[in-house]
Order: sequence, then C-alpha cells, then structure tokens
Amino acid sequence: MTPIHAYIAGTGAYVPPRIVTNQDLIDAGIDTTDAWIRSRTGIEARRFAADGEGPSDMAVPAVRDAVESAGLQIEDIDFIIFATLSPEHAFPGSGCYLQAKLGLPGIPALDVRNQCSGFLYALGCARGLVSSGMARNVVVVGAEKHSAAMDFSTEGRAISCLFGDGAGAVVVRGSEDPRRGIRSLRLGADGRFADALAQKVWDTRNSPFIPTDADGRGIVEKDMLWARMDGKRVFRSAVETMIGSVVSTCRENEIEVAELDLLVCHQANLRINEYVRDQLGMPPEKVPSNIEKYANTTAATIPILLAELERDGRLKPGMNVALVAFGSGFTWGCAFAVW
Ligand SMILES: CC(C)(COP(=O)(O)OP(=O)(O)OC[C@H]1O[C@@H](n2cnc3c(N)ncnc32)[C@H](O)[C@@H]1OP(=O)(O)O)[C@@H](O)C(=O)NCCC(=O)NCCS
Repeated sequence: MTPIHAYIAGTGAYVPPRIVTNQDLIDAGIDTTDAWIRSRTGIEARRFAADGEGPSDMAVPAVRDAVESAGLQIEDIDFIIFATLSPEHAFPGSGCYLQAKLGLPGIPALDVRNQCSGFLYALGCARGLVSSGMARNVVVVGAEKHSAAMDFSTEGRAISCLFGDGAGAVVVRGSEDPRRGIRSLRLGADGRFADALAQKVWDTRNSPFIPTDADGRGIVEKDMLWARMDGKRVFRSAVETMIGSVVSTCRENEIEVAELDLLVCHQANLRINEYVRDQLGMPPEKVPSNIEKYANTTAATIPILLAELERDGRLKPGMNVALVAFGSGFTWGCAFAVW
C-alpha cells in the first residue's frame, strides 16, 4: 500500500474584536505598568471574548476559515480534535460542543488537555489518524477563553497580564505525494514539574471535590480558584527544552537549523522566543511573532500565527517549517513539516 503523508492543508483563525491594552489593565485597577509588561514579555495588547462566548464559539469561525482555505466543505471533516485548557465545562469536552455548532453529528470529537503544547499534541494525533487511514480530513483546533479565569486584582498580575482569548485551526489531510507533509513530530513531558504552572480549581482526591458550606454551596478558596506559576522556572525550562527540541528535530530530519525557512514558536513570551532564536543563530524574520497583539492564547497561538503567516505570504508551499511549544505539565512538542 502507498504510504499516506499527513500534511496541513488549510489554516484559520479567529480573535474576538475587543482589544484590551496594557493601559486598560492598569485602568481596571492592576498595579502594573505598560513598560513592565512590554519589557518582560513583549505584550502590548490582547483580545478578550464577550460574556457568553466560549472556546467552542470562537472555534467555529476559525474552523470555517481553515476548511475554506483547504478548499473543502464543512461536511468533508470526519474528525475533530480540540485542544484547550479552558473548556466551557468540566465535562463534556469543548470538541462535542464544537461538533454540534458545526452541524456534524456522528463524527468523533476528541479533547486534548495539554495546555500550551496542546496544539502540537493534537497535531500528532491527527497525523497518526490520517497516516493510518482512520480519518481523511481532521480538523485540529486550539481555542481558549482565559479572560474568564484570571484574577484581575494586583495579586494576580503575574498571570493576568500574560494571557488572551482566541482560536486557531488547521485541517490535516493525507497525500501520496512524499514531497510535502509533517515529516516528524516529537512530544515530551516531565510531570515532576506539574505544579510549576497549574490551576487546581477542584481536587477529586477529596470528597466533595470542592469544599461546601453548611448550605451545600461550593466554596473555592483563592489559592484554588486562580492559576499559579513559578515564572522563572517556566522561563528557564522553556528555553532549554525548545532549543533542544528544535536541534533534535533538525538532526532527525538530516537538515541544519539554517535550512529552516520558518520557526513558528508558541507565543508565551517574546523574550523566551528571542532567546531561543539567538541561541539557534536564526535571523528575526525566520522566527515571527504576534504576541504583541494577542498575548498568550495557549493552545491557539501556533495555529493563529500559521494562519496569519499564510495569509500575508510569509508561509509558502515548499518551505521547511518547524513548530515548537512548551508549557504546563511540563509538556512540549516540536514538529517539522515541508509546507
Ligand atoms: C512571568 C514573567 C514575565 C515574570 O518575570 P520575572 O522577571 O521572572 O518576574 P518575577 O516573577 O520574578 O517577579 C518580579 C517582580 O515583579 C512583580 N510582578 C509580577 N507581575 C507583574 C506585573 N504584571 N507588573 C508589575 N510587576 C509585576 C512581582 O510581584 C515581583 O515583585 P517583587 O520582586 O516585589 O516580589 C517571567 O517569569 C516569564 O515570562 N516566565 C515564563 C512565563 C510563561 O511563559 N508562562 C506561560 C507558559 S507556556
């Protein structure tokens, strides 16, 4: 049987229209400065979704955009993989809500919970499904609504200044043409650092999983309600792991780092990506960013950036493209594709 090569056939993105600048956060009462946020992270603004708008709502236009750019119809999609750390509810997953909103009853809908590496973990699943023949047209979407789950008091500023809302999607298809496609995809995790970046809003080790008051109402203490992060630890591990992953991926594909046309990094912090870029000896134009506009949209950053790059002509067929991400878990991933 001729091998099936999985490739990214289309890209799409959606960000909500409400722009929230660093000054808007200050005006909302957070003790911070535009200079602090810009100098540490590169972030100038982010988008916040409307009340009542969830990740699966934002995913709909992103998926429609990706399906159209792949030259397909929504009915051609036969598998949904939804990467998010901010699903609407504890269960069911956002993939099921998205499937209903797209009007595709019956097709499988899988949620992936791997935070900032979620898109690459989901892409790995899609690649396996397509190349094994289990699915033909897989939509991989990353979508997050962080704005509903951040502490906008000064106490929460180390996190609330970093994240934004949005959705990005790709369509993964199979081809017998070996010249293009996702050539390799490495994933990793180190659960020893699971608590370095975590949100433990409930704890099923205890019963009930959220403490209740005398009237049976759930009470969530502040240290459980909001995410906590050891920022310096995350920063250090992110740069080391991202650099190592890109070097190993190039070696595995028998190319030099200099032969990469684009390195599309997860957008967590401009300083992380600049450090990675400099250590790899890559010029700025090969390591694009959009964190300035959107902040960290977790599972959505890479597909949003891919869609932007493809629309403005910086991402073209035949290019050598590496995708790399690192995040909570710790988890990470690196893919290499000939576009
Ligand atoms: C979050 C991060 C920008 C913080 O930068 P940092 O230089 O490490 O800053 P620290 O956390 O040590 O905090 C330094 C000081 O700034 C303060 N601070 C934190 N957030 C602030 C903000 N938004 N505005 C102003 N001051 C802030 C802290 O309270 C601390 O004050 P103190 O010294 O009086 O205690 C940086 O650690 C980082 O980017 N880490 C990686 C984060 C990441 O990528 N997360 C997503 C993972 S995918």
